[in-house]
Amino acid sequence: MKFFCRSMVGIDIDQNLVERAKRNLQRIAATKSAITSLEPCEAESSKGTESLELSKDQPTLKGTDLIESVKFRKENVLEKLQPCSPEYDTILCLSVTKWIHLNWGDSGLIALFAKMWHLLRPGGILVLEPQPWVSYQRKRRVSERAAANFKDILMKPCYFPEILLDKIGFRHMENATNNLQGSVVGFNRPIFVFRK
Ligand SMILES: C[S@@+](CC[C@H](N)C(=O)[O-])C[C@H]1O[C@@H](n2cnc3c(N)ncnc32)[C@H](O)[C@@H]1O
Repeated sequence: MKFFCRSMVGIDIDQNLVERAKRNLQRIAATKSAITSLEPCEAESSKGTESLELSKDQPTLKGTDLIESVKFRKENVLEKLQPCSPEYDTILCLSVTKWIHLNWGDSGLIALFAKMWHLLRPGGILVLEPQPWVSYQRKRRVSERAAANFKDILMKPCYFPEILLDKIGFRHMENATNNLQGSVVGFNRPIFVFRK
C-alpha cells in the first residue's frame, strides 16, 4: 500500500507456507473490513492504533480489495522457465538464492536470475537479498543433494552483482542497505536493487 502496489503474487515451493500466507491474508483482510466498516466518528475515536494512524495519510485498501489484489501460490520458481513475458514492475527475492543454489547448483541459480529478468518490465527492479557463502557452509549437509551441489558451486554470492550486470543484462545496481539506519542487529545482510 505504501508503495502504491496494485497487485502482488507471492510464490513458494512449500505448500504449508503458502497455506499459512493465505490464512494470514484472510485474517488481515477481515480486520481491515472491520475497520473500514466503522462509522467515521468511531474510527476517529479509536485512531490511537498504528494502523489507523497510517491509513489517514495513505491510500486505503479494503479487506475485499486485499483478497483480490494479493495472491499466493505454490510453485517451484524453476519450473515454467519458458515462455516468460515481462509482467512485473518489482520482484523481491529475499533469502532464497542459497536454497536454489544448494538444490539446483550454478545452473539453477542462473535459470532463476534469467527468469526474473524476463519477468520484469523494462525499468523494473529486482530486490535481491542473497545469503552469504558462510551460511551455505552451515547448511551444506541438509541433504545429499545439497552436499554434492555445494562442492561444485563456482558462482559464489560475491560474484552475483557481476553476473546479474554482465551476464544477465541488468543495467544498474545499488546497495539499498548502504548508510541504512536502524537495521535489526544480527540481520545486516546487504540488499541489492538491480534495474532492468
Ligand atoms: C529462508 S526462506 C525466505 C522466505 C521469504 N522470502 C522471507 O524473506 O522471509 C526461503 C524460501 O524459499 C523457498 N524456496 C526454496 N526453493 C524454492 C523454489 N525452487 N521455488 C520457490 N520457492 C522456493 C523455501 O520454501 C523457503 O520458504
